[in-house]
Amino acid sequence: MKKSTIIIKEDCLEDAILVSQQIPEFENAYPKSEYEKRLKGVKHLILTAYLSNKPVGFKIGYETPTKRNFYNWMGGVLPKYRQLGIAGNLLEHQEQWAIKAGFQRILVKTRRKHTAMIKLLQKHGFLQIGIIPYNPNKETRILYEKKL
Ligand SMILES: CC(C)(COP(=O)(O)OP(=O)(O)OC[C@H]1O[C@@H](n2cnc3c(N)ncnc32)[C@H](O)[C@@H]1OP(=O)(O)O)[C@@H](O)C(=O)NCCC(=O)NCCS
Repeated sequence: MKKSTIIIKEDCLEDAILVSQQIPEFENAYPKSEYEKRLKGVKHLILTAYLSNKPVGFKIGYETPTKRNFYNWMGGVLPKYRQLGIAGNLLEHQEQWAIKAGFQRILVKTRRKHTAMIKLLQKHGFLQIGIIPYNPNKETRILYEKKL
């Protein structure tokens, strides 16, 4: 798969939600109202990745209350299209946008069970900055940051 065949578009919330509803790891995908609630009135970035016009991946984030940091909230790639570099591509696009927008850091909260996400973050230079223990342990939240 050539990276050039992946097209990333901004502001296609409907397609991003469509993808989120097909990610098996998200047992209870958020309804559209949750996206609208979180994104309303704050600077945000909605990215959707397309292959042959089909939405296959997404990444959504928004500014934190201090307005200095960008919170990388949700993201995923459909199982059939994984390990093709799509999430990495979305992450890089988000990072470039966040730099241009003047943010100081990107923050991510993930769960221990999302091992592919953890590897992806490490590969892209995110550093672990905190842990919030949960029972069972696979639900433990892990916080990462990348200084921009
Ligand atoms: C995490 C996820 C978004 C990665 O998407 P992807 O498009 O397959 O990722 P990429 O192809 O860009 O992978 C880039 C890097 O991520 C890591 N990675 C991706 N899949 C991996 C896997 N199955 N096992 C280990 N590392 C993996 C690797 O570091 C990989 O780099 P490499 O190919 O050089 O080893 C995808 O697996 C997913 O949607 N998972 C379920 C949802 C999820 O966990 N979302 C995050 C919640 S916070």
